Amino acid sequence: MTDASRTQVGIIGGGPAGLLLSQLLHHDGINSVIVERQSRSYVMSRIRAGVLERGMVDLLQKAEVAERLKKEALWHEGLDIAFGGQRHRIDLTDLTGDRVCVYGQTEITKDLYAARDAMGGVIIDEAEEVTPRNVATDAPYMTYRKDGLEHRLDCDFIAGCDGYHGVSRSAIPGEILKTFERVYPFGWLGLLSDTPPISEELIYINHERGFALCSQRSMTRSRYYLQCSVDENPAEWPDERFWEELQKRLPEDALADLVTGPSIEKSVAPLRSFVAEPLRHGRLFLAGDAAHILPPTGAKGLNLAASDIHFLSTALIAYFKSGDERGLEDYSRKALSRIWKAERFSWWMTNQLHNYGDATGFDRRIQRTELDYLFSSRAAMTAMAENYVGLPYE
Ligand code: FAD
Ligand code: PHB
Repeated sequence: MTDASRTQVGIIGGGPAGLLLSQLLHHDGINSVIVERQSRSYVMSRIRAGVLERGMVDLLQKAEVAERLKKEALWHEGLDIAFGGQRHRIDLTDLTGDRVCVYGQTEITKDLYAARDAMGGVIIDEAEEVTPRNVATDAPYMTYRKDGLEHRLDCDFIAGCDGYHGVSRSAIPGEILKTFERVYPFGWLGLLSDTPPISEELIYINHERGFALCSQRSMTRSRYYLQCSVDENPAEWPDERFWEELQKRLPEDALADLVTGPSIEKSVAPLRSFVAEPLRHGRLFLAGDAAHILPPTGAKGLNLAASDIHFLSTALIAYFKSGDERGLEDYSRKALSRIWKAERFSWWMTNQLHNYGDATGFDRRIQRTELDYLFSSRAAMTAMAENYVGLPYE
């Protein structure tokens, strides 16, 4: 049996990109349906990003989902980079007048789901075989199976917000879609614990044994990462082993402030740079991780998903309100211009901070010199800081 229904914007994927788009459209009276492959509890339990640009916070505020964030988020005016055992502070606020916000992606997802539910938003979860169809025509639709029944959802537009492993990208024919990719020869082993953070601000560590990052979610919850091999098995990292390795990579003056405790989550993430072009094919638009992946070093993935959604929601609202198609026509170009800048920055941060096992003596000297230069030049620090706090949405 096929059950048919209709919406203005069909959204594939109920991660932060899809939820935020649905929420922003709702505020302008545009209806949407989100079709998500996983269960809600699975989506809510994924531990990922922690650092938000002000642009993303402003967008969450515009979407009226920032009430809890306003109360609970921590604002950071700087960060530390440790190199050769020395900590160097990058004073984001002095250099740019701006700062970043620490608030977990898990919390954002919870806030977005709560807002969508309160407003009667339609989110179909545990949908199987979601497939966008006829996207190059004026009558796109998607099909999916739920509880053994086939469904059809007719749409004016389809937004592919289904992450890197989603189906939307493959609806763009191979002769049109171009992809650009760099795979890094290491991963990050992450640990979450209910312990106070080691420091008020984040510490990014360049160490001979490999990169490490001291991050946080709140004054009582810490997030640490260690550079590891791509095929590292978290099961081989009991908590004691993780803490011992972290201690070996920490700058000495931070060691005494480390509070260890049982982990509440541990996982390995591969590092990859990836961009798909174009972001539009007919009536299908790609946004978020469906269109691009960044190594987490620059903390840009979620922030870029938010700027894509800003461009896309503005374009869709202009179209539905006044038939103005210019935003839709310009979406791919505009979003890609910001995407490539974030890709460049994340690639640069990754290169400066990780230990490339096969680096030549020359490569190591260049890495050292790049960091020496960064700490000695206000211009270089400003360039880093303005990318870290986030480039304007334009
Ligand atoms: P996703 O969160 O991947 O959501 C896509 C959704 O689509 C998922 O719910 C998925 O189940 C669903 N889906 C997939 N396939 C289908 C299908 N076939 N049909 C229907 N639904 C489907 N970013 C930052 O900005 N700052 C950070 O500090 C940061 N730290 C990170 C740390 C780590 C360890 C990792 C792994 C990532 C980090 N990121 C960070 C990146 C950030 O988490 C992602 O960029 C973000 O989740 C992208 O959101 P999205 O909605 O585009 O995609
Ligand atoms: C995190 O807290 O998960 C985090 C913070 C900064 C990054 C990457 C991840 O650059």
